[in-house]
Amino acid sequence: NSKNYILAIESSCDDTSAAVLCHTKVLSNVVATQEIHKQYGGVVPELASRAHQQNIVPVVHQALAKANIDKKQLSAIAFTRGPGLMGSLLVGTSFAKSLALGLNIPLIEVNHMEAHILAHFIEDESQTAPTFPFLAMTISGGHTQIVKVSDYFEMEVMGETLDDAVGEAFDKSAKLMGLPYPGGPLIDKYAKLGNPKAYTFPKPKVDGLNFSFSGLKTSILYFLQRESQKNPDFISQNMNDICASVQFTILEILMEKLQMAVEQTGIKQIAIGGGVAANSGIRGRLKDAEENLGWQTFIPKFEYCTDNAAMIGIVGLLKFYRGDFTDQSVAAKARYAI
Ligand code: KG4
Ligand code: ZN
Repeated sequence: NSKNYILAIESSCDDTSAAVLCHTKVLSNVVATQEIHKQYGGVVPELASRAHQQNIVPVVHQALAKANIDKKQLSAIAFTRGPGLMGSLLVGTSFAKSLALGLNIPLIEVNHMEAHILAHFIEDESQTAPTFPFLAMTISGGHTQIVKVSDYFEMEVMGETLDDAVGEAFDKSAKLMGLPYPGGPLIDKYAKLGNPKAYTFPKPKVDGLNFSFSGLKTSILYFLQRESQKNPDFISQNMNDICASVQFTILEILMEKLQMAVEQTGIKQIAIGGGVAANSGIRGRLKDAEENLGWQTFIPKFEYCTDNAAMIGIVGLLKFYRGDFTDQSVAAKARYAI
């Protein structure tokens, strides 16, 4: 078992990544982040696809070299089939298919959203895996989802965003304040110095466990326009308080839905993933919930929270042991539900 080497490839959005796993251990996890999108304030699909084409070969070579593995030693190749940007997914999918064909080894397709959740099962001294059943909340620039996880491949989406992802809510709010992309980490930084109750923004009225963040963005826009008309320096003079209040509103929305999911299921193990899991505010709120509500919370190592191939590799490995392979007819799938 422990001598099975899996090569994993992730190219669903704007990060080209390749990883080599030996059983549940990560030997290498190389991520090429595309800087080109920064100047546009968001991911440009055409440019992402082109950058993946340029990055994929060197990134795979680096992953193999860092793992000190020759490609002839590989047992299987796992790749992200979807969901994601079609042009981006195509690059990883085509590459994985050709390499598996060339090496005559099994090909394993992976759902990116399942991978964010199963990243908790990567063996690493800095993280602990939850036990089944648990609730997973994936929060990033592309996703906002609460999933009930009964087993590795027994997942039920309980709620998801109807419009913007939570990371987008952070980034778009930051953009309105004139902060560079991605603004999430900056809002987090300034929020630490501000008063979260300084301004109030309306929370969206969305039934059940679904989310909506586009209304919040609009109300922040109107608020900033109104205040800036009265005082042109309003934003710069009150940056910390605005960031703290915006972040507080977003966290209230996330925590309220999580609490509802806990009440509905009686499950108190909460596993968080995605880039927004880096937010210090959400980490604080989860700690509070551990103390006050008896929750048990889990956050993977940061490099396994953001888009990465190691999480594709752990799913690949689980499927490898099940003999769950795909054939050369497999095609990328931009919309691909859990
Ligand atoms: O998972 P990720 O690297 O990429 C995908 O979206 O797939 O997540 C990036 C998102 C961005 O929206 C970024 O602003 C947000 O995560 N983010 C944060 C923080 N760090 C990253 N948002 C709030 N606070 C942070 N500390
Ligand atoms: Zn992702």
